[in-house]
Amino acid sequence: MAMTTAQIQSSFRRIDPSRYPELIDYARDAIYGDGDRMAPGGLYLAARMTRSLNLQPGDVVLDLGCGRGDSSLFLARHFDVHVVSVDLLISATERSEKFAARGHRHDILPLRLDARRPLPFGEQYFDAIFCMQALHAFGGSVSILQDLLKHLKPGGRFVVGTTCFNEPVTRDTLPDIYQQTDGWDAEYEKYHWPEWWNDLFIETGMLDVIECEELDDGALLWEDDVLYSAERAGWRDTYVQNARWLIDQLVFGRTHRPYLTHFVATAVKKLSGPLNTIADLGRAQSLRWN
Ligand SMILES: C[S@@+](CC[C@H](N)C(=O)[O-])C[C@H]1O[C@@H](n2cnc3c(N)ncnc32)[C@H](O)[C@@H]1O
Repeated sequence: MAMTTAQIQSSFRRIDPSRYPELIDYARDAIYGDGDRMAPGGLYLAARMTRSLNLQPGDVVLDLGCGRGDSSLFLARHFDVHVVSVDLLISATERSEKFAARGHRHDILPLRLDARRPLPFGEQYFDAIFCMQALHAFGGSVSILQDLLKHLKPGGRFVVGTTCFNEPVTRDTLPDIYQQTDGWDAEYEKYHWPEWWNDLFIETGMLDVIECEELDDGALLWEDDVLYSAERAGWRDTYVQNARWLIDQLVFGRTHRPYLTHFVATAVKKLSGPLNTIADLGRAQSLRWN
C-alpha cells in the first residue's frame, strides 16, 4: 500500500549536515537552489565532489552541464578559481545575471554549448573538469569523453557525480516499478551503475580512476530531495500525488534491488602529453608521490 503523507514525513531520511561542513553557512534553500534545481543532491553533491578535485587558487575549471550554475558559484566562492560554466539548455544570459548578482561576474564565464560537439577551448586548457548530474545526458561514450578530455591538462582531475542505480540493470531486468513513468526511456537507461562508468573511464585510455563508487548517502540524497520539495510545496496533496511515482520507487529501493542512488568518480588524466607549466609538473609529481 502506498505510503501516507505522515509516513513519508516520518520515514524519509534527511542528509546529516554535519557530514558537509563546507555548507555550514548555507541555508537549506541555498543548498537546493531555492527550489529551482534540476536534479537531486544540490550542493551536497557538489561539496562531496570538490573534496577530490584538488583545486589550487587561480585554477581554471570547466563546470560541464552546470544547469542553473549553482555549482559554478560554489566552486568560485570556495576555491578562488576561474570557472567556465557550460550548459546546453540553460541560457548564458540567465546564468550571467545570476553570477553578477552574486558578485561573481569576473570569475565565472557562462557559455551555452553542446558538449557532444567540438568545444571551443584549447587542448589541455583546464586544470579540472567538474560534471555534476549531467554526464549521463551526453557523455556515455568513449569518443565523447576522449574529445572532452583533450581539454584537460595532464595530471588534471575529472570529477563526476551523478544519479545511478546501485548495480547492473537493463531494460529486461528492470523491475516494473521503475517503468511507472517514461523514466527508463528518458533518463534511467543512461544512469547505469558505478562499475559501468568506471569501465568507460578506463576505456578512454586517458584516465587513471582513483575512485568510482556509490556514495554511502547516495540513496538519502534522493529522499532528502523529496522532503525538501514537499516542504516547499507545503506538503500539499497535489505535490505528493505528482511525486508518487518517485516516492514509490524510493520506498521499493529500501528493500529491493536495484535502487536509485548516486556515485562520485574521480579520475586523473594520464601524463601522456607534454606538461605546460611548472605548476603542471608539481601537480603531476604530487600525484606520483601521494
Ligand atoms: C539534470 S541537469 C543538472 C544540472 C546541474 N549540473 C545540476 O546538478 O543541477 C543536466 C544538465 O545537463 C545539461 N546538458 C544536457 N545535455 C548537454 C549537452 N549535450 N551539452 C551540455 N550540457 C548538456 C542540461 O542542459 C542540464 O542543464
